[in-house]
Amino acid sequence: MRPKVLILGHTGKVGTAIRAALGPKYDVLGANSAVLDANDLAMVGAMVADTKPDVVVNCIAHLGEDACEREPDRAFRLNTLLPRLLADYSERQAFKLVHFSSDGVFSGRKRDFLGESDVPDPVNIYGLTKYMADVSILGGCERHFVFRISVQFGESDGKPQFLEKMIARVRGGDRHLRIADDIVSSPTYSADVATVVRAAIEGDINYGLYHVVDTGSASLYELVSAAFEMLGWRAEVEPVSHVEFPTAARKHPITPLRQEKLPPLRHWRAALAEYCGRVEYHYAA
Ligand SMILES: NC(=O)c1ccc[n+]([C@@H]2O[C@H](COP(=O)([O-])OP(=O)(O)OC[C@H]3O[C@@H](n4cnc5c(N)ncnc54)[C@H](OP(=O)(O)O)[C@@H]3O)[C@@H](O)[C@H]2O)c1
Repeated sequence: MRPKVLILGHTGKVGTAIRAALGPKYDVLGANSAVLDANDLAMVGAMVADTKPDVVVNCIAHLGEDACEREPDRAFRLNTLLPRLLADYSERQAFKLVHFSSDGVFSGRKRDFLGESDVPDPVNIYGLTKYMADVSILGGCERHFVFRISVQFGESDGKPQFLEKMIARVRGGDRHLRIADDIVSSPTYSADVATVVRAAIEGDINYGLYHVVDTGSASLYELVSAAFEMLGWRAEVEPVSHVEFPTAARKHPITPLRQEKLPPLRHWRAALAEYCGRVEYHYAA
């Protein structure tokens, strides 16, 4: 029988990539807000109990640092209590739990790459609720993979995220973008994260907490400029400070991640070039 993988949030950025990476070898089931209200933890529990999965991949989160600041209760429920519940079920039902954390658990005060051995020091509600989930999964169940990831680009059946929004703006005729050059992270192709998830599900990685990022770091300005250069699209990208875009949440400006435990993934520029090739093909079709 094929292993049963339940992907919670299968239509989002990371979930879409994982579905593509798993393929027909697995019996993949998905749930998003069309069939599940993950704020209702009893409903999630019932779904996990009924499905009897071998693996649960949790891609559901309350995303958006400002949104979390405005709705801390919802952020705590989706980002902390939901993963904690899944850890309890993992322990009881003996399934593998794959969960995603974020570079947002760090303040960025180190102003350098952050590895798994660096101690989180979140500065906003998003980071705090994500970190509390890390802690409750690491202590709450044995069969866990907590993958800390950074700014994602890639295909998605869900809402567009940062880079896709910039691509859509230029496609829509906007020729002048102002992008922060002092927010530095580890841009990563979601397809690369998905290959690590597949390796974890297949038993090639020991349980634990891992940073999973393409190699290198970039400011948002560098990421967007590189994408338009690779696409050959004419757009003026102006570097500005993030303070020009006031936010409700405190920022963690310099939080590139470093993998201390897994073999390095390809450089983000190589991954971006592959993604841009697919974007070009998409618009040419
Ligand atoms: N994307 C990034 O740059 C990034 C960076 C660092 C960490 N992460 C982490 O990676 C994980 C996956 O993020 P993502 O980018 O894939 O998110 P995403 O694109 O926003 O996808 C979220 C998924 O969860 C579903 N969902 C959200 N709220 C739900 C609810 N209340 N009930 C049921 N389903 C719900 C969405 O379905 P609907 O569309 O139907 O609501 C969607 O399928 C998260 O833990 C996030 O914190 C992401």
